[in-house]
Amino acid sequence: MTPLHENPRAVGLFAAMLLAAFAPPLAYVNLRRAPSGDTVAAPAPHAAANTVAEVHAPPPAAIPNGPMGDAIRRGKLLVTRTFETVPDHVGNGLHCTSCHLDEGTHTGAASWVGIPGVFPEYRARSGRVDTLERRINDCFERSLNGTALDPGSEDMAAIVAYMGFLSRDVPAGRTPPGRGFRRAEHPPTPDRAHGQTLYAQRCASCHGADGAGQSPGGQYAFPPVWGPRSYNIAAGLARLDTAASFIRWNMPLGQGGSLSEQEAYDVADYVIHQPRPDFARKHLDWPHGGRPRDARY
Ligand code: HEC
Ligand code: HEC
Repeated sequence: MTPLHENPRAVGLFAAMLLAAFAPPLAYVNLRRAPSGDTVAAPAPHAAANTVAEVHAPPPAAIPNGPMGDAIRRGKLLVTRTFETVPDHVGNGLHCTSCHLDEGTHTGAASWVGIPGVFPEYRARSGRVDTLERRINDCFERSLNGTALDPGSEDMAAIVAYMGFLSRDVPAGRTPPGRGFRRAEHPPTPDRAHGQTLYAQRCASCHGADGAGQSPGGQYAFPPVWGPRSYNIAAGLARLDTAASFIRWNMPLGQGGSLSEQEAYDVADYVIHQPRPDFARKHLDWPHGGRPRDARY
C-alpha cells in the first residue's frame, strides 16, 4: 500500500474516517485495509446473523514472475485505475474497484474470487449465455458508462488473468459462497425523504452534497454517486435492492453494517433517483423475461 503522505485519497479517507469516528452514534470504526493490503476480517454489528463462508484470494505477493505475472499485474492496474489506463473506454469518474471493493476481493461487494469458474452462464438480462468477457464489458458499458473492450484484446486477457489469479484456490464450476451482494430477505419500503437526510449526515462528507464526489487536483479520492460522472441508469447499482445491499454492508466506507436495513433502503432510494446518464440499449434488456422487481425500466 502507498504510504499515506504519497496518496491524497488515503489522506482524505483517513480524515473522513476520523470525522466519522467522532460523529455519534457510531459504535465502532472498522478500517477495511491492513497495512499489508490484505482484507481485514470485519466484525460489523449486524454481520453475525448474515455471515457467509468466504473464499479467499491469494496474497498479492503470490503473483508469479514472467509473462503470466505481467498480465496479472496489468489486469490489476486496469481494474484499480480504470479511467487512467483505458480512458477511451470509461465515460465517468469510476474505477472497477469503486464498487468491487478491495481490488475485487471483498465478500459482500461482488467479489471476483471464484467468478471465472462460473462463466459462461445464462443471464436473464442479456437473455443469452454470456462469457466472462461479455460480463466484464457489461460493466464497462453500464457501470463505467463507457464502451466495451475488444474481447480478444490484450487488456481483456489481462483482466481475465487477474480474476483467474484471485480465483486460484477456488474449485471451478461451483458458485462461490457469498457471490454478489448480501441481499435483504424481506426488502422494506423505502422512505426517500429520510434517505435525503441520511445522505447529508452519513455520505455527503465524502461523496459531496451534490453527489459529484471529490477529486482534488484531478486525483481519484471519493467517486461520484450521481450526475454525469456516475454509473448509468442500466447499471446494477441503479436498482434499489442491489444499491441497498451494497450500501448496507459497505458504506459509509470503513463502517459497513452500521446502517440498518431500512436506512440502507432509504438512502439507496434517494441516491438511485438522482439524475444519471441514460443507456441507449436498455430496451433490449430481459428479452425473454426474468425482469427483477427492482428493474428501473
Ligand atoms: C458502479 C459499480 C460498478 C462498477 C464501477 C463496476 N461494476 Fe462490475 N458489477 C457491479 C454490479 C452491481 C454487479 C452485479 C452483481 C450482482 O448483482 O450480483 C457487477 C458484476 C460484475 C461481474 C460478475 C460478478 C458475478 O458474480 O457474476 C464482473 C465479472 C464484474 N462486475 C466486473 C467488473 C469490471 C471488470 C469492472 C470494470 C471494468 C466493473 N465490474 C465495474 C457493479 C459495478
Ligand atoms: C469515508 C468516506 C465515505 C463515506 C462517508 C461514504 N463513502 Fe461511499 N465510497 C467511498 C469510497 C472511497 C468509495 C470507492 C471505494 C474505493 O475506491 O475503494 C465509495 C463507493 C461508493 C459507491 C460505489 C461507487 C460509486 O461512486 O457509485 C456508492 C454507491 C457509495 N459509495 C455510496 C455511499 C453512501 C450511500 C454513503 C452513505 C451511507 C457513503 N457512500 C458514504 C467513501 C465513502
